[in-house]
Amino acid sequence: MHPKVTSMVRYMSLWDQGGFLGGPTLAADMNLVVQLSMGVALLAGMMLARGKHYRAHAICQGSVMVLNLVMIALIMLPSFRDNVLPELPGRLLRPYYFVPTFHAALGGVAQVMGIYIVLRAGTNWLPQALRFRNYKLWMRTELTLWWVVIIIGIATYVVWS
Ligand code: HEM
Repeated sequence: MHPKVTSMVRYMSLWDQGGFLGGPTLAADMNLVVQLSMGVALLAGMMLARGKHYRAHAICQGSVMVLNLVMIALIMLPSFRDNVLPELPGRLLRPYYFVPTFHAALGGVAQVMGIYIVLRAGTNWLPQALRFRNYKLWMRTELTLWWVVIIIGIATYVVWS
């Protein structure tokens, strides 16, 4: 086998082995650490808004929204496709499949809503009809939903460990 392919395979299997926190895979442990850090970053970003540092707030929350798209694309969506999707709908009611499915559904809503809020607050790209005015309500709802998704993500991690 070509050395590059060998190192790719070694890298991929390391990725799929147990992680440094004792979770199911290295990818899961990395995702857990990144997700918790992003959840804390969103709380810090909320404090920035409270202190009227709106530009810093926008950069902080916007960065988390974009970084999480990368985490979904590289880790969570592939994991969902390989580990959950093949067993749906037959085994949906087992916790092993139900918890990540519930998590993925709510997580999808939280991510889309986050991108929508960033577009509304940070650009002029949206048509008038889609420009909400009640920033506080939308942003508080999003932060709460996001943390609910993190908690169900942790539940997924626990059920899969
Ligand atoms: C706001 C959006 C999201 C947040 C904050 C979030 C957060 C988390 C957290 C904290 C974990 C636990 C760490 C881990 O086990 O990897 C996790 C795992 C997971 N998430 Fe998400 N997630 C989000 C969106 C999604 C979406 C849209 C999907 C599905 C398409 C998804 C599917 C998964 C899966 C399958 C796992 C288990 C990964 C594994 O262990 O292999 N998540 N997520």
